[in-house]
Amino acid sequence: MNNKLELTPAQMRELGYRVVDMIADYFSALPDKPVGRKGDPAVLRPSLMEPPPETPVPESEIFARLEYDIFSNILNVCHPRFFAFVPIPSNYVGAMADALASGFNVFNGSWLGGSGAAAMELAVIDWFRQWCGFPESAGGLFVSGGSMANLTALVAARHTKLADHTEGAVVYYSDQTHSSVERALRVIGFRPEQMRKLESDGEFRLPMDALESAVEADRAQGLRPFAVIANAGAINTGAIDPLREIAAFCRAQDLWMHIDGAYGAAAVISERGRRLLGGIELADSLSFDPHKWLFQPIECGCVLLRDAALLKATYRIMPEYLADVHRNATEVNPCDYGIQLTRGFRALKVWMSMHYFGLEAFRGAVERGFELAELAERKLRSMPEWEIVSPAQMAVVCFARRGADDAFYERIHQAMLAGGFALATSTVLNGRTVLRLCTINPRTTDAEIEQTLEWLNALAASNSGCEITG
Ligand SMILES: Cc1ncc(COP(=O)(O)O)c(C=O)c1O
Repeated sequence: MNNKLELTPAQMRELGYRVVDMIADYFSALPDKPVGRKGDPAVLRPSLMEPPPETPVPESEIFARLEYDIFSNILNVCHPRFFAFVPIPSNYVGAMADALASGFNVFNGSWLGGSGAAAMELAVIDWFRQWCGFPESAGGLFVSGGSMANLTALVAARHTKLADHTEGAVVYYSDQTHSSVERALRVIGFRPEQMRKLESDGEFRLPMDALESAVEADRAQGLRPFAVIANAGAINTGAIDPLREIAAFCRAQDLWMHIDGAYGAAAVISERGRRLLGGIELADSLSFDPHKWLFQPIECGCVLLRDAALLKATYRIMPEYLADVHRNATEVNPCDYGIQLTRGFRALKVWMSMHYFGLEAFRGAVERGFELAELAERKLRSMPEWEIVSPAQMAVVCFARRGADDAFYERIHQAMLAGGFALATSTVLNGRTVLRLCTINPRTTDAEIEQTLEWLNALAASNSGCEITG
């Protein structure tokens, strides 16, 4: 019985090489694999619903189970023809950084627990601060993803602007805003009647006139307008709200401005992204996910505040058992800036992959996303069966099959999953179901865009009316 849960160095190496081989094979074979598979719950769940084994299971059996039950039943979000939702085209260096962070089991909650990690996190956060044009007072921390970034920021907003009293407070955002914002608001005590989801304009942006009228009407009712949430890359279409106008309005009205740039903000590293995202530097808080358009493995989100001290004022609590942690004021404790105490070393993957490839390569990778969506738009415009509903914007293009009803999109989704060559997902714009490609994977080739759209067209032709098979 190995009750020390220990391996010899040789065993550790053997296991490690096997894992690395699997990952390397995965990355290199991806273009030849299907985009993924959704397991049947009636089969998959019972196959795993078993008690833990009392004694060791042979390694070969463990890996066979993983390959058969788990890794063959996932969507390959790094796949070059995975265009659904927001793809997560991570990179191998980032994955190895995660292995190191886990292997050293770095505690990244306090300076005492992981000073090297805390210093690196501060340095990487400072890259983000500079890329986004925030002042030196700005700062933030790594979180699990965009949902936690939105929550972490909105708690700070509530604390700063409302002293945590939410009665009568109202929040404004467009109908294109990601659902994680509404969930964050629920978590922090906002009820539906305190959320103004304003209808977006013809370009899926938050209309200033509607925002101004809503705030005025609420003030007239004795309510307390509190925050505006703007999109910098709305999930459906890539739309960017009028950031400068919103910022000016928020300043004039004493409202907190949060920008959800979970998928879009990373584009600031490219020339084009910086131009499109002008005004991002005016936010009070910003969500920014390196696990989307900065090509990092899940989980890697980030929240930035224009004034990092507000995060600390919101989150810092000093229990007796952490006194040793807090003695030196120059030592920054990440736990003072957010919800987690014990937290992983997420900055490492960004730092290591940035050092491995160089920022120039990342800039090129972001630029490639813009180009691929434009290529897809051009190709679609040449295909008479399809029409563009929202043109290429921040690496997203939305399009519809002429004459198709909603049921068509359900059939085409099933057909794409069954075929496995590529995957796009649908969304609803102005009450109409459309397909959407998000092209942020820099490893997608021009030929793959063409082939995907031709394949989709052929699938659509055979699924335009009747039931599909397969
Ligand atoms: C604009 C936007 N905000 C928030 C989120 C939620 O991020 P996460 O899934 O990392 O929690 C997403 C996810 O796609 C997003 O696109």
